[in-house]
Amino acid sequence: MAILKIARMGHPVLRQPAAAVTDPTAPEIARLVADMKDTLIDIGGNGLAAPQVYVGQRVVLYRLAAERIPPGAKQPAVDWTALVNPVITPLGDGRMVNYERCLSLPDMVGKVERHTKVRCAYETLEGKRAEIVARGFHAMVLQHECDHLDGVLYPMRMRELSDFGYASEWKVPDFIRLWPPEAFDGPQD
Ligand code: NI
Repeated sequence: MAILKIARMGHPVLRQPAAAVTDPTAPEIARLVADMKDTLIDIGGNGLAAPQVYVGQRVVLYRLAAERIPPGAKQPAVDWTALVNPVITPLGDGRMVNYERCLSLPDMVGKVERHTKVRCAYETLEGKRAEIVARGFHAMVLQHECDHLDGVLYPMRMRELSDFGYASEWKVPDFIRLWPPEAFDGPQD
């Protein structure tokens, strides 16, 4: 078990594109993902991309914990999912603007525009091809984490810096409550 240090905005590892993983089944990738999971559990976060722990490889780990989904939402919880070499494709023209946070910008929150619905193609740790279709909050998490693999942090997606600030000053105890309930309604075709 290892809890990893998180790189913060400004560090070069967060500003450059990460390298494709040549062998998703390699033991060092499994160890990296295990350490990322320990780190997320320790911090209580939703997701983490490898560059955030100083590893310039295209690996993401995320989950949607049941306790972070509002009661009555149709979005089911998502168990720990490791994405190797993920590729995001927008589905439809829908866009949404909502609040985001990032472990590499501790204490900050900002409003970001994202695709409402996306497909994420990736490789599993077993080396198999897989795909996720997500919308709303789930789609945001996928877009946010995969952006890290291209050296993009959420403030770089923001249109209005007036929508950026300290979470503690927003006076909302949990930023999830800043999202409308319909953002948790799961995939819809
Ligand atoms: Ni982030």
